[in-house]
Amino acid sequence: MTTNTLDGSDVAHATPFVHEPSTEIQPYGHLVRLPIGLSDAVCREGVEQLNQLLADTVTLRDLYKKHHWQLLGPTFYQLHLLFDKHSGEQSAFVDAIAERIQTLGGVSLAMGGDIAEMTLIPRPPRGREDVRVQIERLLHAHEIVLKEARTMARLAAERGDDGTNDMIVSDVIRRNELQVWFLAEHLVGTPVVRAEP
Ligand SMILES: [Fe+2]
Repeated sequence: MTTNTLDGSDVAHATPFVHEPSTEIQPYGHLVRLPIGLSDAVCREGVEQLNQLLADTVTLRDLYKKHHWQLLGPTFYQLHLLFDKHSGEQSAFVDAIAERIQTLGGVSLAMGGDIAEMTLIPRPPRGREDVRVQIERLLHAHEIVLKEARTMARLAAERGDDGTNDMIVSDVIRRNELQVWFLAEHLVGTPVVRAEP
């Protein structure tokens, strides 16, 4: 290709390619084979399950951010920091799960619209909610993630996908359980976090 400037010189190799026609080089749901010693069937099953776990982990991370921003009440400062810490940890899982999907030869979900279609976590209202409702909503989301993660970890072990099993057990399950503990201990009967009837 010859691209001439006003002075007539050829700058084809220095011209950025923008507005080129876009094509998918690997559609969602299609697998490429990587030399990791796992069969196509094992990789396919792992990718499908991990995309569900990814959708729910992204949603849980975003739920933490929503509550980090919309918080109110006497425990504001403590929970503002805690929610942000948990959100950051969930962000690390999002990255680990997505990269595991790509490692298995799959395509990870990425965009909010696709996440919203896939997630099993109920959609919260846009507006603010009482701190107790926020915590209960988070605990419910954690339980959804933990139940599916345990099933997925067991299935991964049964089909010989030790890497996926290890990531789900060591990272996702253990840390989600710990986050549940930190949250649930706020729901004791102290007036500072009790919602008005
Ligand atoms: Fe913040």
